[in-house]
Amino acid sequence: MRAIMLERLVYRSEATHKLGSLHLFNLLVQCRKRNSELGITGHLLYTEEIFVQCIEGPPAAVEALWQSIQRDDRHHNIELLSRGPETERRFGDWSMAFSSYAHFNKYGIPGFFPVDEEGMSEAAARCAGLTDALV
Ligand SMILES: Cc1cc2nc3c(=O)[nH]c(=O)nc-3n(C[C@H](O)[C@H](O)[C@H](O)COP(=O)(O)O)c2cc1C
Repeated sequence: MRAIMLERLVYRSEATHKLGSLHLFNLLVQCRKRNSELGITGHLLYTEEIFVQCIEGPPAAVEALWQSIQRDDRHHNIELLSRGPETERRFGDWSMAFSSYAHFNKYGIPGFFPVDEEGMSEAAARCAGLTDALV
């Protein structure tokens, strides 16, 4: 039996408190630093105090991060949406791409994708497996 090299996990959760820009940026910086060390890539969507996050990487790293994420009291009502082996990364270029309201555009954050009126961005669509296109 071949070992699984890559796993993807997607969950949804609710922010415990409304997160301001500074807290979100701190979270993103923290995510990107540790994810780079773990070989994790992915995407975080934050709108209406709801997170949807996709994390992908070596199974042991995904498991370690998933344990940390579930312990984090910045969010609750964590619901696992999907988890399983994959052959390709959807976010190979991003230690954590980030989608949220367009007003974040002004900060020039690399890997930021503004959402439209329906709360959808190119990266969020990719997270949901709706599209491969990511520019
Ligand atoms: C919505 C959300 C998403 C997170 N995503 C990540 C992530 O992608 N990578 C990461 O290292 N930490 C992420 N964190 C932070 C972790 O929950 C945790 O605080 C951090 O990894 C440190 O882990 P430790 O407390 O086990 O040392 C996230 C936290 C929240 C609330």
